[in-house]
Amino acid sequence: MEDQAVELSLRPRYLAEYIGQNQVKENLKIYIEAAKMRNEALDHVLLYGPPGLGKTTLANIIANELGVNLRTTSGPAIERPGDLAALLTNLQEGDVLFIDEIHRLHRTVEEVMYPAMEDFALDIMIGKGPSARSVRLDLPPFTLIGATTRAGLLSAPLRDRFGVVSRLEFYSVDELSYIVSRGAEIFGIEIIGDAADEIALRARGTPRIANRLLKRVRDYAQVRGDGMITRDIADQALHMLQVDPRGLDQIDYKILHTMITSFRGGPVGLDTIAATIGEESQTIEDVYEPYLMQIGFLQRTPRGRMVTSTAYQHLGLPQPPQQN
Ligand code: ADE
Repeated sequence: MEDQAVELSLRPRYLAEYIGQNQVKENLKIYIEAAKMRNEALDHVLLYGPPGLGKTTLANIIANELGVNLRTTSGPAIERPGDLAALLTNLQEGDVLFIDEIHRLHRTVEEVMYPAMEDFALDIMIGKGPSARSVRLDLPPFTLIGATTRAGLLSAPLRDRFGVVSRLEFYSVDELSYIVSRGAEIFGIEIIGDAADEIALRARGTPRIANRLLKRVRDYAQVRGDGMITRDIADQALHMLQVDPRGLDQIDYKILHTMITSFRGGPVGLDTIAATIGEESQTIEDVYEPYLMQIGFLQRTPRGRMVTSTAYQHLGLPQPPQQN
């Protein structure tokens, strides 16, 4: 198979193939079945959680399970109300419109979205000045699936119009190990013993990272070994990638080391950390911080972020005495 095609098939297509997120899956299964029995569009769904946990994959699965078309776009890509109108009027009854990064929807577009979600109607202004009037256009019933890294960034009126709100959680090492084994099978490569666990341990609770590490380990196994992925091969490849045993990469190290060397481990504000290491605050908050907090290396306090004693231990550094 072509690599591109393999890439697509790494993504599960049915709920039954989708590993983990059991609560979310169980709920969706019922709502999908009920909507199908009533021959109605599924209620609008908001998926939120850190990047790489499978929000896009789930949107594809939902459309697939419903047996409808999926249209995919992203918040910032819809520049004007007219762009949204074009998308919505091209949907067929029951179709899914997937909007990634929905927290970045323009204000003017968002306002057109409210009646579209609530009443399946578009209010369009015709003309200007005193003769301007609003015309209501009916839309086919559809399902909006919105995805965001943080639901808190959504305006309340938009958030309230989603009938189903699901938060995706980091995956366990066992779940990631399954995902890695499944990926290896799809790639047609042999992965033996606990090599899958070794990759899973360093995947930061994130399937997208697990699959990316698997691909790099596969390259290494092919060039430096005989193609088979053993624990040793996985270990060497991951060491070369500078992914540490807990999955921390160079940027995680930069964050922790900066906090420790320049700010005595904190508390220090997010923007200060960002400015010191030259990363966007938003990237740190959405991508790095959730995992560092999940594994107990970072704490959020009212006065800022703090490095925990667990992190000091992991880094092999002495913790300075606590100040008050
Ligand atoms: N690939 C990426 N995410 C997955 C998941 N949750 N289950 C199975 N395969 C995946």
